[in-house]
Amino acid sequence: MIQVRFTEVTAELRSLWTGRAMKRIVRLAMLAVVAVAADVSADGLTTNDAVYSKEQAKIGEQLYKDNCLLCHDKKYFRPVFIAWEGKTLGTMYTVMNTSMPQTNPGVLPLKDYVDILAYMLSLNRYPAGGKPLSNDNNELDSITIAPH
Ligand code: HEC
Repeated sequence: MIQVRFTEVTAELRSLWTGRAMKRIVRLAMLAVVAVAADVSADGLTTNDAVYSKEQAKIGEQLYKDNCLLCHDKKYFRPVFIAWEGKTLGTMYTVMNTSMPQTNPGVLPLKDYVDILAYMLSLNRYPAGGKPLSNDNNELDSITIAPH
């Protein structure tokens, strides 16, 4: 919830300050706050608990090809997930939808980011289940990125 509010504030600040440098500072400050908030959550589920569906990952794959492949090949996300172990999917989702694609942050509908996140989980060979990953912040915050 802290994250949502902060994102809104940041969006307002962004609309006030048009300077490119200022935008960058605001974004970096926001990422820092998100990172601090990261460890507060997590009640049980991990990325090993079949938290996304195959169909969703398929949709995410096309979105990834259209919006992310330009800068990130498929192998990019493996070390990212390892570095992020112990943090939550909610934090990664927020980083994605506020800073990516780098050239036009937040340009995609929120649902698209969560579909791409599902594809990233499939790339990292986490198990898929019957239920798609939700873009509800609380739900995403309760799923910890775990080794497998
Ligand atoms: C124009 C280039 C560009 C595009 C397009 C782009 N990114 Fe990025 N991305 C970057 C750069 C640069 C970084 C930060 C440097 C790095 O860690 O490689 C980054 C970092 C990231 C990170 C964080 C890695 C970490 O460990 O903090 C994630 C996750 C990510 N991108 C996901 C995406 C997704 C998802 C998309 C598509 C919606 C996307 N990116 C599109 C350039 C891009």
